[in-house]
Amino acid sequence: MKKITIAIDGFSSTGKSTLAKQLAKHLGYVYVDTGAMYRAVALFAMQKGYISSSNFDKKALINDIPNIKLHFEFNADLGFAEMYLNDSNVEKEIRTIEVSSFVSKVAEVSDVRAKLVEQQKEMGKNKAIVMDGRDIGTVVFPDAELKIFMTASAETRAQRRFDELEAKGDNVSYEDVLKNVQERDYIDTHRDDSPLVIAEDAIEIDNSYLSREEQFAAVLELVDEII
Ligand code: C5P
Repeated sequence: MKKITIAIDGFSSTGKSTLAKQLAKHLGYVYVDTGAMYRAVALFAMQKGYISSSNFDKKALINDIPNIKLHFEFNADLGFAEMYLNDSNVEKEIRTIEVSSFVSKVAEVSDVRAKLVEQQKEMGKNKAIVMDGRDIGTVVFPDAELKIFMTASAETRAQRRFDELEAKGDNVSYEDVLKNVQERDYIDTHRDDSPLVIAEDAIEIDNSYLSREEQFAAVLELVDEII
């Protein structure tokens, strides 16, 4: 069976990671959540005081990039890899609404992108990988054998994200989550470096009205046609 690269891009909270995890598990592939990497850099910038709601010292962040070390470690109990920032497990901290509110600003910085894209390319050099993000099919793996672009209405996505945060006990309002989803979409699609666009050869899936199972089955058919 042929080993391939699967690139999954799309707007925030479209269920990219759910699909990517299902595929990786089914195929025995590595799954890489590149959003987690940008979130970890945002957390670093917050911890160092480079970014807050009133300021963003891009220069200080850029100078400190060599001191950012990111890696994933597979957690067998959870069944997926967790994000580590400078050898600390930051999987929980990077999923807060605060990190979500800063991450797209940090992801606009070209030096940050260059560092993360290099690491992502390295992780995928042997194929057999499912990677999700915003620029995987366009920048990281333009030659990926399968590219999926996921969309759903902002309201559907915000509701899903809100349900997830609420289930974790985060005290957030649906309106704040919707605002964050819309703001991130705007920044991600309008930035100069690697904006979120659909790759020419990507297959678009609007999953507003698809169940997880239906979506998985549809993508698996596409995979089977290739491998
Ligand atoms: O996927 P997730 O929503 O966790 O990503 C968080 C943010 O990281 C996105 O809103 C985007 O600003 C940034 N990102 C990116 N490029 C990627 C993955 C994520 O710019 N490949």
